Amino acid sequence: MSVHAEQKPWTVPALAEAKRQGRRLAMLTAYDAGFARVMDREGIDLVLVGDSLGMVVQGHDSTLPVTVADMAYHTAAVARVLKQALLVSDLPFQSDATPERALDASVVLLQAGAQMVKLEGAGHKLDVIRFLAARDIPVCSHLGLTPQSVLKLGGFRVQGREAQAAAQLLADAQATVEAGASLLVLECVPTPLAQKITAAVSVPTIGIGAGPHCDGQVLVMHDFLGLDSGHRRPRFVKDFLAEGGSVAGAVRAYAAAVRDGSYPDAEHAYA
Ligand code: KIV
Repeated sequence: MSVHAEQKPWTVPALAEAKRQGRRLAMLTAYDAGFARVMDREGIDLVLVGDSLGMVVQGHDSTLPVTVADMAYHTAAVARVLKQALLVSDLPFQSDATPERALDASVVLLQAGAQMVKLEGAGHKLDVIRFLAARDIPVCSHLGLTPQSVLKLGGFRVQGREAQAAAQLLADAQATVEAGASLLVLECVPTPLAQKITAAVSVPTIGIGAGPHCDGQVLVMHDFLGLDSGHRRPRFVKDFLAEGGSVAGAVRAYAAAVRDGSYPDAEHAYA
């Protein structure tokens, strides 16, 4: 059954309230109107137009070639059909290199229909988050494995395994929230660290390869539908199409599993 009629449209303040009430958030990426419409109808709370589109839609090896224009095109397509889900859109590679550049890129994405922008990292990005938040632009921070740093990281790897790296990640998470982030994506982070960060911050954490204790989960659409991405399949990925039998069924199965805490289990997480 569609939850379309039951759920009020999500707002940014409602996300923090969901955390206070212990209501888990189900998020998926979408890049076009067709899939976004099904996600919206079947109870997905947040839709992310991720710069992962560089890999899964455009066929690149990384997210680095994605431009603000690419993001705006896909954001507009998704925005046209969402009725309930909150739309988050990625600031692509180096479009957030300075606060001013990030403001210009965010205006383009918000005018295309995004309700929040997501940016990767802490460090000098704290100034960017502060600058955007002070101008009433809702920001989602993305920490852990940050794909735009793939050249520096040397590959797509779990982050925060050593004690010092874990302490830094916790400090970064707190700093991004203090700077004004309203949501925090944690990618490829060991389960105990993600649990500690989730307990330490007032905003919802959304895990992807970060274990079951986050306030919500996100998956890339192609991964959750079991499509061959041409890359090694990460441990946390689960094929919900196999379980749900149709795209709508897969979305329902994913949303239900996120809400009741059965996904991700230990098999789909890093210890
Ligand atoms: O670009 C993307 O799809 C993302 C998710 C992996 C969180 O950032």
